[in-house]
Amino acid sequence: MIDQGAPPQERGQTVARTPGLGARLMRRKPVEVLVAEGGQGEGGTLRRSLGLWQLTMISIGATLGTGIFVVLGEAVPKAGPAVTLSFVIAGLTALFSALSYAELAGTIPVAGSSYSYAYATMGELIAWVCGWCLVLEYGVSVAAVAVGWGEYLNELLDGTIGVTLPDALSAPPGDGGVFNLPALIVVLLAMAFLLGGARESARANTVMVAVKIAALVLFCAIGVQGLRSGNYEHFMPLGMSGVSAAGATLFFSYIGFDAASTAGEEAKDAQRDLPRAIMLSLVIVTALYVLVAAVAVGAKPWRQFNDSEAALAQIMRDVTGQGFWATLLAACAVIAIASVVLTVLYGQTRILFAMSRDGLVPKVFSRVHPKTGAPRANTVIVSLFCGVLAAAVPLGQLADATSIGTLFAFALVNVAVVVLRRTRPQMNRTFRVPLSPLLPALGFAFCVWMMGSLSTVTWVVFGVWMAVGLVVYFLYGHRRSRLAPPAPSEK
Ligand code: ALA
Repeated sequence: MIDQGAPPQERGQTVARTPGLGARLMRRKPVEVLVAEGGQGEGGTLRRSLGLWQLTMISIGATLGTGIFVVLGEAVPKAGPAVTLSFVIAGLTALFSALSYAELAGTIPVAGSSYSYAYATMGELIAWVCGWCLVLEYGVSVAAVAVGWGEYLNELLDGTIGVTLPDALSAPPGDGGVFNLPALIVVLLAMAFLLGGARESARANTVMVAVKIAALVLFCAIGVQGLRSGNYEHFMPLGMSGVSAAGATLFFSYIGFDAASTAGEEAKDAQRDLPRAIMLSLVIVTALYVLVAAVAVGAKPWRQFNDSEAALAQIMRDVTGQGFWATLLAACAVIAIASVVLTVLYGQTRILFAMSRDGLVPKVFSRVHPKTGAPRANTVIVSLFCGVLAAAVPLGQLADATSIGTLFAFALVNVAVVVLRRTRPQMNRTFRVPLSPLLPALGFAFCVWMMGSLSTVTWVVFGVWMAVGLVVYFLYGHRRSRLAPPAPSEK
Protein backbone atom coordinates (compact mmCIF):
# COMPACT_ATOMS: atom_id res chain seq x y z
CA MET A 1 0.00 0.00 0.00
CA ILE A 2 1.48 3.38 -0.97
CA ASP A 3 1.70 5.75 1.98
CA GLN A 4 0.54 9.13 0.71
CA GLY A 5 2.67 10.82 3.35
CA ALA A 6 5.80 9.43 1.71
CA PRO A 7 8.15 11.65 -0.31
CA PRO A 8 7.22 11.95 -4.05
CA GLN A 9 9.81 9.41 -5.24
CA GLU A 10 8.46 6.90 -2.70
CA ARG A 11 5.05 7.22 -4.27
CA GLY A 12 6.48 6.22 -7.63
CA GLN A 13 6.51 9.77 -9.04
CA THR A 14 9.48 10.59 -11.20
CA VAL A 15 11.54 13.67 -10.50
CA ALA A 16 12.09 15.66 -13.67
CA ARG A 17 15.40 17.42 -12.94
CA THR A 18 18.67 15.48 -13.03
CA PRO A 19 19.64 15.34 -9.37
CA GLY A 20 23.03 16.54 -8.12
CA LEU A 21 25.70 14.21 -6.72
CA GLY A 22 24.49 14.62 -3.14
CA ALA A 23 20.95 13.70 -4.08
CA ARG A 24 22.13 10.73 -6.13
CA LEU A 25 24.14 9.36 -3.23
CA MET A 26 21.11 9.77 -0.99
CA ARG A 27 18.57 8.28 -3.38
CA ARG A 28 16.39 5.83 -1.53
CA LYS A 29 14.60 2.78 -2.74
CA PRO A 30 10.95 2.91 -1.72
CA VAL A 31 9.95 0.25 0.78
CA GLU A 32 6.96 -0.71 -1.37
CA VAL A 33 9.19 -1.30 -4.40
CA LEU A 34 11.63 -3.36 -2.33
CA VAL A 35 8.81 -5.55 -1.05
CA ALA A 36 7.00 -5.78 -4.41
CA GLU A 37 10.20 -6.97 -6.12
CA GLY A 38 10.60 -9.74 -3.53
CA GLY A 39 11.68 -13.04 -5.07
CA GLN A 40 12.07 -11.69 -8.58
CA GLY A 41 15.34 -12.46 -10.28
CA GLU A 42 16.58 -12.55 -13.84
CA GLY A 43 14.67 -15.27 -15.66
CA GLY A 44 12.87 -16.70 -12.64
CA THR A 45 11.81 -16.30 -9.04
CA LEU A 46 13.06 -17.59 -5.72
CA ARG A 47 10.72 -20.13 -4.09
CA ARG A 48 8.90 -19.48 -0.85
CA SER A 49 9.47 -22.72 1.01
CA LEU A 50 10.83 -21.89 4.47
CA GLY A 51 8.77 -21.89 7.68
CA LEU A 52 9.58 -20.59 11.17
CA TRP A 53 11.43 -23.76 12.15
CA GLN A 54 13.77 -23.72 9.13
CA LEU A 55 14.36 -19.98 9.44
CA THR A 56 15.33 -20.36 13.10
CA MET A 57 17.65 -23.22 12.16
CA ILE A 58 19.25 -21.07 9.44
CA SER A 59 20.08 -18.40 12.02
CA ILE A 60 21.35 -20.93 14.58
CA GLY A 61 23.22 -22.73 11.81
CA ALA A 62 25.03 -19.54 10.83
CA THR A 63 25.79 -18.53 14.41
CA LEU A 64 26.81 -21.57 16.42
CA GLY A 65 30.19 -22.87 15.32
CA THR A 66 33.77 -21.69 15.40
CA GLY A 67 33.05 -19.14 18.12
CA ILE A 68 32.20 -21.69 20.78
CA PHE A 69 34.30 -24.58 19.48
CA VAL A 70 37.47 -22.57 18.76
CA VAL A 71 37.37 -18.91 19.87
CA LEU A 72 36.31 -19.68 23.45
CA GLY A 73 39.79 -21.13 24.04
CA GLU A 74 41.33 -17.82 22.90
CA ALA A 75 39.00 -15.66 25.00
CA VAL A 76 39.43 -17.36 28.40
CA PRO A 77 43.05 -16.19 28.88
CA LYS A 78 41.81 -12.61 28.37
CA ALA A 79 38.97 -12.63 30.91
CA GLY A 80 39.40 -15.64 33.20
CA PRO A 81 36.20 -17.24 34.54
CA ALA A 82 34.43 -13.93 33.77
CA VAL A 83 34.43 -15.06 30.15
CA THR A 84 30.82 -15.98 30.93
CA LEU A 85 30.21 -12.26 31.46
CA SER A 86 31.98 -11.52 28.17
CA PHE A 87 29.49 -13.79 26.43
CA VAL A 88 26.65 -11.88 28.10
CA ILE A 89 28.07 -8.50 27.01
CA ALA A 90 28.61 -9.67 23.43
CA GLY A 91 25.13 -11.22 23.57
CA LEU A 92 23.62 -7.91 24.75
CA THR A 93 25.25 -6.11 21.83
CA ALA A 94 23.73 -8.72 19.56
CA LEU A 95 20.37 -8.54 21.37
CA PHE A 96 19.79 -4.80 20.93
CA SER A 97 20.70 -5.09 17.28
CA ALA A 98 18.61 -8.24 16.93
CA LEU A 99 15.55 -6.30 18.09
CA SER A 100 16.17 -3.75 15.37
CA TYR A 101 16.75 -6.52 12.83
CA ALA A 102 13.51 -8.17 13.90
CA GLU A 103 11.50 -4.99 13.37
CA LEU A 104 13.00 -4.26 9.98
CA ALA A 105 12.89 -7.87 8.78
CA GLY A 106 9.18 -7.94 9.60
CA THR A 107 8.59 -4.63 7.83
CA ILE A 108 10.87 -5.06 4.80
CA PRO A 109 11.17 -8.85 4.36
CA VAL A 110 13.64 -9.02 1.48
CA ALA A 111 16.84 -10.92 0.70
CA GLY A 112 19.17 -7.95 1.10
CA SER A 113 18.86 -7.78 4.90
CA SER A 114 20.52 -4.67 6.37
CA TYR A 115 21.69 -3.55 2.92
CA SER A 116 18.05 -3.20 1.84
CA TYR A 117 16.99 -1.59 5.14
CA ALA A 118 19.70 1.02 4.63
CA TYR A 119 18.61 1.54 1.01
CA ALA A 120 15.07 2.29 2.14
CA THR A 121 16.07 4.67 4.91
CA MET A 122 19.50 6.22 4.47
CA GLY A 123 20.10 6.18 0.75
CA GLU A 124 22.21 4.38 -1.80
CA LEU A 125 25.71 5.26 -0.64
CA ILE A 126 25.09 4.12 2.94
CA ALA A 127 23.32 1.04 1.57
CA TRP A 128 26.37 0.22 -0.52
CA VAL A 129 28.66 0.73 2.46
CA CYS A 130 26.41 -1.60 4.45
CA GLY A 131 26.37 -4.20 1.66
CA TRP A 132 30.16 -3.98 1.43
CA CYS A 133 30.38 -4.61 5.20
CA LEU A 134 28.09 -7.60 4.74
CA VAL A 135 30.62 -9.07 2.31
CA LEU A 136 33.01 -8.98 5.27
CA GLU A 137 30.40 -10.46 7.61
CA TYR A 138 29.38 -13.22 5.24
CA GLY A 139 31.85 -13.79 2.39
CA VAL A 140 35.09 -13.30 4.28
CA SER A 141 33.83 -15.04 7.40
CA VAL A 142 32.89 -18.10 5.33
CA ALA A 143 36.52 -18.29 4.31
CA ALA A 144 37.73 -17.84 7.90
CA VAL A 145 35.28 -20.44 9.22
CA ALA A 146 36.23 -22.91 6.49
CA VAL A 147 39.85 -22.69 7.64
CA GLY A 148 38.74 -23.61 11.18
CA TRP A 149 36.88 -26.59 9.73
CA GLY A 150 40.13 -27.98 8.34
CA GLU A 151 41.71 -27.87 11.79
CA TYR A 152 38.90 -29.88 13.38
CA LEU A 153 38.89 -32.32 10.45
CA ASN A 154 42.53 -33.09 11.13
CA GLU A 155 41.75 -33.60 14.82
CA LEU A 156 38.99 -36.02 13.83
CA LEU A 157 41.18 -37.95 11.36
CA ASP A 158 43.86 -38.20 14.00
CA GLY A 159 41.41 -39.52 16.61
CA THR A 160 39.80 -42.08 14.32
CA ILE A 161 42.36 -43.42 11.85
CA GLY A 162 45.50 -41.91 13.31
CA VAL A 163 46.35 -40.06 10.11
CA THR A 164 46.45 -36.31 9.54
CA LEU A 165 46.76 -34.27 6.39
CA PRO A 166 50.19 -32.67 5.97
CA ASP A 167 50.44 -29.04 7.11
CA ALA A 168 51.06 -27.86 3.55
CA LEU A 169 47.57 -29.09 2.63
CA SER A 170 45.65 -28.34 5.79
CA ALA A 171 47.19 -25.51 7.81
CA PRO A 172 45.98 -21.96 7.21
CA PRO A 173 47.95 -20.28 4.41
CA GLY A 174 50.75 -18.23 5.90
CA ASP A 175 50.73 -20.40 9.00
CA GLY A 176 52.68 -23.34 7.61
CA GLY A 177 50.07 -24.14 4.95
CA VAL A 178 50.33 -23.68 1.19
CA PHE A 179 46.88 -24.64 -0.04
CA ASN A 180 44.17 -25.43 2.51
CA LEU A 181 42.40 -28.28 0.76
CA PRO A 182 39.77 -29.04 3.46
CA ALA A 183 38.67 -25.39 3.45
CA LEU A 184 38.03 -25.57 -0.29
CA ILE A 185 36.26 -28.93 0.06
CA VAL A 186 33.80 -27.75 2.73
CA VAL A 187 32.88 -24.69 0.68
CA LEU A 188 32.32 -26.84 -2.43
CA LEU A 189 30.15 -29.24 -0.40
CA ALA A 190 28.04 -26.32 0.80
CA MET A 191 27.80 -25.11 -2.80
CA ALA A 192 26.44 -28.49 -3.89
CA PHE A 193 23.62 -28.25 -1.32
CA LEU A 194 22.83 -24.65 -2.20
CA LEU A 195 22.57 -25.47 -5.90
CA GLY A 196 19.83 -27.95 -4.99
CA GLY A 197 17.66 -25.12 -3.68
CA ALA A 198 16.86 -23.36 -0.42
CA ARG A 199 14.56 -26.07 0.91
CA GLU A 200 17.10 -28.86 0.42
CA SER A 201 19.84 -26.76 2.01
CA ALA A 202 17.57 -25.91 4.94
CA ARG A 203 16.82 -29.60 5.48
CA ALA A 204 20.51 -30.54 5.59
CA ASN A 205 21.17 -27.58 7.86
CA THR A 206 18.46 -28.64 10.32
CA VAL A 207 20.11 -32.03 10.78
CA MET A 208 23.51 -30.41 11.31
CA VAL A 209 22.11 -27.92 13.83
CA ALA A 210 20.52 -30.76 15.80
CA VAL A 211 23.93 -32.45 15.95
CA LYS A 212 25.73 -29.37 17.21
CA ILE A 213 23.18 -28.55 19.86
CA ALA A 214 23.30 -32.17 21.04
CA ALA A 215 27.10 -31.99 21.16
CA LEU A 216 27.09 -28.88 23.35
CA VAL A 217 24.46 -30.34 25.67
CA LEU A 218 26.56 -33.48 25.93
CA PHE A 219 29.60 -31.35 26.72
CA CYS A 220 27.70 -29.67 29.56
CA ALA A 221 26.41 -32.98 30.90
CA ILE A 222 29.92 -34.47 31.02
CA GLY A 223 31.79 -31.29 31.92
CA VAL A 224 29.58 -30.60 34.92
CA GLN A 225 31.01 -33.72 36.56
CA GLY A 226 34.43 -32.08 36.58
CA LEU A 227 33.36 -28.75 38.12
CA ARG A 228 35.55 -27.39 40.95
CA SER A 229 34.19 -24.39 42.83
CA GLY A 230 37.76 -23.13 43.31
CA ASN A 231 37.97 -22.54 39.56
CA TYR A 232 35.41 -19.72 39.88
CA GLU A 233 37.38 -17.89 42.60
CA HIS A 234 39.10 -14.74 41.33
CA PHE A 235 36.24 -14.45 38.92
CA MET A 236 37.56 -11.39 37.13
CA PRO A 237 41.35 -11.66 37.42
CA LEU A 238 42.09 -9.23 34.59
CA GLY A 239 39.43 -6.65 35.41
CA MET A 240 36.66 -5.19 33.33
CA SER A 241 39.00 -4.35 30.47
CA GLY A 242 39.80 -8.05 30.12
CA VAL A 243 36.10 -8.86 30.13
CA SER A 244 35.34 -6.35 27.38
CA ALA A 245 38.37 -7.36 25.28
CA ALA A 246 37.19 -10.98 25.47
CA GLY A 247 33.66 -9.78 24.66
CA ALA A 248 34.90 -8.12 21.47
CA THR A 249 36.70 -11.32 20.48
CA LEU A 250 33.64 -13.39 21.29
CA PHE A 251 31.33 -11.15 19.32
CA PHE A 252 32.43 -13.31 16.40
CA SER A 253 30.43 -16.15 17.94
CA TYR A 254 27.19 -14.15 17.56
CA ILE A 255 27.75 -13.24 13.94
CA GLY A 256 25.10 -14.94 11.86
CA PHE A 257 21.93 -14.54 13.97
CA ASP A 258 20.80 -12.16 11.25
CA ALA A 259 21.10 -14.87 8.57
CA ALA A 260 17.35 -15.55 8.66
CA SER A 261 16.81 -11.99 7.46
CA THR A 262 18.52 -12.88 4.18
CA ALA A 263 15.82 -15.50 3.58
CA GLY A 264 13.05 -12.90 3.44
CA GLU A 265 12.18 -13.79 -0.14
CA GLU A 266 12.10 -17.54 0.45
CA ALA A 267 10.07 -17.54 3.67
CA LYS A 268 6.45 -18.70 3.51
CA ASP A 269 5.26 -15.98 5.89
CA ALA A 270 8.22 -13.66 6.13
CA GLN A 271 6.57 -10.82 8.00
CA ARG A 272 5.38 -13.08 10.79
CA ASP A 273 8.26 -15.55 10.97
CA LEU A 274 11.44 -13.53 10.41
CA PRO A 275 11.26 -11.49 13.65
CA ARG A 276 10.46 -14.64 15.61
CA ALA A 277 13.26 -16.65 14.03
CA ILE A 278 15.83 -13.93 14.75
CA MET A 279 14.85 -13.55 18.41
CA LEU A 280 14.41 -17.26 19.03
CA SER A 281 17.78 -18.17 17.59
CA LEU A 282 19.55 -15.49 19.62
CA VAL A 283 17.97 -16.65 22.89
CA ILE A 284 18.86 -20.30 22.24
CA VAL A 285 22.41 -19.49 21.19
CA THR A 286 23.09 -17.12 24.12
CA ALA A 287 21.79 -19.65 26.64
CA LEU A 288 24.03 -22.35 25.17
CA TYR A 289 27.09 -20.10 25.09
CA VAL A 290 26.81 -18.97 28.70
CA LEU A 291 26.17 -22.52 29.88
CA VAL A 292 29.06 -24.03 27.92
CA ALA A 293 31.45 -21.25 29.00
CA ALA A 294 30.43 -21.63 32.67
CA VAL A 295 31.03 -25.38 32.54
CA ALA A 296 34.33 -24.99 30.64
CA VAL A 297 35.91 -22.55 33.13
CA GLY A 298 34.47 -24.53 36.06
CA ALA A 299 36.01 -27.78 34.86
CA LYS A 300 39.41 -26.41 33.94
CA PRO A 301 41.44 -23.65 35.68
CA TRP A 302 41.43 -20.60 33.43
CA ARG A 303 45.22 -20.30 33.43
CA GLN A 304 45.40 -23.67 31.71
CA PHE A 305 43.53 -22.43 28.64
CA ASN A 306 46.35 -21.73 26.22
CA ASP A 307 44.80 -20.51 23.00
CA SER A 308 44.11 -24.12 22.16
CA GLU A 309 41.86 -24.69 19.19
CA ALA A 310 40.17 -27.70 20.71
CA ALA A 311 39.54 -26.51 24.26
CA LEU A 312 36.19 -28.25 24.61
CA ALA A 313 37.53 -31.55 23.31
CA GLN A 314 40.43 -31.38 25.78
CA ILE A 315 38.06 -30.81 28.70
CA MET A 316 36.03 -33.83 27.65
CA ARG A 317 39.21 -35.90 27.60
CA ASP A 318 40.37 -34.60 30.99
CA VAL A 319 37.05 -35.15 32.73
CA THR A 320 36.38 -38.65 31.37
CA GLY A 321 39.95 -39.80 30.98
CA GLN A 322 38.99 -41.22 27.57
CA GLY A 323 39.96 -40.01 24.12
CA PHE A 324 36.69 -41.27 22.67
CA TRP A 325 34.71 -38.25 23.90
CA ALA A 326 37.21 -35.79 22.51
CA THR A 327 36.99 -37.51 19.12
CA LEU A 328 33.20 -37.49 19.27
CA LEU A 329 33.22 -33.77 20.01
CA ALA A 330 35.64 -33.18 17.12
CA ALA A 331 33.24 -35.06 14.82
CA CYS A 332 30.36 -32.85 15.98
CA ALA A 333 32.49 -29.74 15.54
CA VAL A 334 33.20 -30.77 11.94
CA ILE A 335 29.45 -30.96 11.33
CA ALA A 336 28.75 -27.77 13.31
CA ILE A 337 31.25 -25.69 11.41
CA ALA A 338 30.10 -27.10 8.08
CA SER A 339 26.60 -25.82 8.79
CA VAL A 340 28.01 -22.33 9.46
CA VAL A 341 29.70 -22.47 6.06
CA LEU A 342 26.45 -23.60 4.41
CA THR A 343 24.18 -20.96 5.94
CA VAL A 344 26.59 -18.04 5.80
CA LEU A 345 27.33 -18.83 2.16
CA TYR A 346 23.57 -18.90 1.59
CA GLY A 347 23.26 -15.45 3.18
CA GLN A 348 26.03 -14.01 1.01
CA THR A 349 24.41 -15.23 -2.19
CA ARG A 350 21.05 -13.71 -1.23
CA ILE A 351 22.54 -10.33 -0.30
CA LEU A 352 24.35 -10.16 -3.64
CA PHE A 353 21.11 -11.25 -5.30
CA ALA A 354 19.36 -8.17 -3.88
CA MET A 355 22.27 -5.86 -4.72
CA SER A 356 22.33 -7.19 -8.27
CA ARG A 357 18.61 -6.63 -8.71
CA ASP A 358 19.25 -3.01 -7.74
CA GLY A 359 21.98 -2.76 -10.36
CA LEU A 360 24.80 -2.20 -7.85
CA VAL A 361 26.57 -5.47 -8.76
CA PRO A 362 26.41 -7.34 -12.11
CA LYS A 363 23.16 -8.92 -13.25
CA VAL A 364 24.58 -12.43 -13.20
CA PHE A 365 24.08 -12.47 -9.42
CA SER A 366 20.30 -12.24 -9.72
CA ARG A 367 19.85 -14.91 -12.40
CA VAL A 368 17.59 -17.65 -11.04
CA HIS A 369 17.56 -21.25 -12.25
CA PRO A 370 13.99 -22.04 -13.37
CA LYS A 371 14.01 -25.60 -12.00
CA THR A 372 15.58 -25.27 -8.56
CA GLY A 373 14.66 -21.65 -7.89
CA ALA A 374 18.26 -21.09 -6.79
CA PRO A 375 20.53 -18.29 -8.02
CA ARG A 376 22.90 -20.76 -9.65
CA ALA A 377 25.60 -18.62 -11.25
CA ASN A 378 25.67 -16.45 -8.11
CA THR A 379 26.17 -19.52 -5.91
CA VAL A 380 28.99 -20.88 -8.05
CA ILE A 381 30.82 -17.55 -8.28
CA VAL A 382 30.51 -16.81 -4.54
CA SER A 383 31.54 -20.35 -3.58
CA LEU A 384 34.59 -20.38 -5.81
CA PHE A 385 35.59 -16.95 -4.55
CA CYS A 386 35.20 -17.93 -0.87
CA GLY A 387 36.76 -21.37 -1.41
CA VAL A 388 39.88 -20.02 -3.09
CA LEU A 389 40.11 -17.18 -0.56
CA ALA A 390 40.03 -19.71 2.27
CA ALA A 391 42.41 -22.14 0.61
CA ALA A 392 45.09 -19.88 -0.78
CA VAL A 393 45.05 -16.44 0.83
CA PRO A 394 46.53 -15.71 4.26
CA LEU A 395 43.42 -14.12 5.79
CA GLY A 396 45.12 -12.89 8.98
CA GLN A 397 43.75 -9.50 9.89
CA LEU A 398 41.04 -9.71 7.26
CA ALA A 399 39.37 -12.39 9.35
CA ASP A 400 39.44 -10.10 12.42
CA ALA A 401 37.92 -7.42 10.27
CA THR A 402 34.75 -9.50 9.88
CA SER A 403 33.71 -8.48 13.40
CA ILE A 404 34.27 -4.78 12.79
CA GLY A 405 32.38 -4.95 9.48
CA THR A 406 29.49 -6.75 11.13
CA LEU A 407 29.35 -4.29 14.02
CA PHE A 408 29.28 -1.43 11.53
CA ALA A 409 26.36 -3.02 9.66
CA PHE A 410 24.53 -3.67 12.96
CA ALA A 411 25.07 -0.04 14.02
CA LEU A 412 23.46 1.06 10.75
CA VAL A 413 20.47 -1.22 11.34
CA ASN A 414 19.90 0.46 14.71
CA VAL A 415 19.88 3.82 12.96
CA ALA A 416 17.64 2.53 10.15
CA VAL A 417 14.94 1.38 12.54
CA VAL A 418 14.66 4.84 14.10
CA VAL A 419 14.73 6.58 10.71
CA LEU A 420 11.94 4.38 9.37
CA ARG A 421 9.82 5.01 12.47
CA ARG A 422 10.18 8.74 11.81
CA THR A 423 9.75 8.75 8.04
CA ARG A 424 7.09 6.03 7.77
CA PRO A 425 5.31 5.87 11.12
CA GLN A 426 2.15 4.38 9.61
CA MET A 427 3.74 1.28 8.09
CA ASN A 428 2.50 -2.08 9.20
CA ARG A 429 5.06 -3.55 11.64
CA THR A 430 4.69 -7.15 12.79
CA PHE A 431 7.30 -6.58 15.50
CA ARG A 432 8.25 -3.33 17.21
CA VAL A 433 11.42 -2.68 19.17
CA PRO A 434 10.25 -1.83 22.68
CA LEU A 435 11.25 1.57 24.11
CA SER A 436 12.41 2.92 20.75
CA PRO A 437 14.53 5.01 20.26
CA LEU A 438 16.20 4.09 23.57
CA LEU A 439 17.00 0.45 22.77
CA PRO A 440 18.20 1.12 19.20
CA ALA A 441 20.37 3.92 20.65
CA LEU A 442 21.80 1.44 23.16
CA GLY A 443 22.32 -1.06 20.35
CA PHE A 444 24.21 1.58 18.39
CA ALA A 445 26.30 2.53 21.45
CA PHE A 446 27.20 -1.10 22.21
CA CYS A 447 28.31 -1.63 18.60
CA VAL A 448 30.52 1.45 18.73
CA TRP A 449 31.95 0.34 22.10
CA MET A 450 32.77 -3.11 20.74
CA MET A 451 34.33 -1.60 17.62
CA GLY A 452 36.48 0.57 19.89
CA SER A 453 37.77 -2.56 21.67
CA LEU A 454 39.24 -3.95 18.45
CA SER A 455 42.89 -3.44 17.56
CA THR A 456 44.33 -0.58 15.52
CA VAL A 457 45.49 -3.00 12.83
CA THR A 458 41.92 -4.21 12.44
CA TRP A 459 40.77 -0.61 12.02
CA VAL A 460 43.40 0.00 9.36
CA VAL A 461 42.34 -3.14 7.47
CA PHE A 462 38.73 -2.02 7.75
CA GLY A 463 39.62 1.46 6.43
CA VAL A 464 41.37 -0.05 3.41
CA TRP A 465 38.43 -2.39 2.80
CA MET A 466 35.97 0.52 2.85
CA ALA A 467 38.17 2.62 0.55
CA VAL A 468 38.22 -0.23 -1.99
CA GLY A 469 34.44 -0.52 -1.64
CA LEU A 470 33.94 3.17 -2.40
CA VAL A 471 36.11 2.93 -5.50
CA VAL A 472 34.07 -0.04 -6.72
CA TYR A 473 30.84 1.85 -6.04
CA PHE A 474 31.82 4.97 -7.94
CA LEU A 475 33.24 3.00 -10.86
CA TYR A 476 30.31 0.59 -11.16
CA GLY A 477 27.27 0.70 -8.89
CA HIS A 478 26.70 4.44 -8.88
CA ARG A 479 26.32 4.48 -12.66
CA ARG A 480 24.52 1.15 -13.08
CA SER A 481 22.06 1.62 -10.22
CA ARG A 482 18.48 1.11 -11.27
CA LEU A 483 17.71 4.38 -9.55
CA ALA A 484 20.24 6.22 -11.72
CA PRO A 485 18.67 8.68 -14.15
CA PRO A 486 18.63 7.24 -17.69
CA ALA A 487 21.49 8.27 -19.96
CA PRO A 488 20.48 11.03 -22.44
CA SER A 489 20.27 8.51 -25.31
CA GLU A 490 17.82 6.35 -23.32
CA LYS A 491 15.45 9.20 -22.47
N1 ALA B 1 29.25 -17.11 14.52
C1 ALA B 1 29.88 -17.94 13.58
C2 ALA B 1 30.83 -18.86 14.22
O1 ALA B 1 31.05 -18.75 15.40
C3 ALA B 1 30.56 -17.12 12.52
O2 ALA B 1 31.35 -19.72 13.58
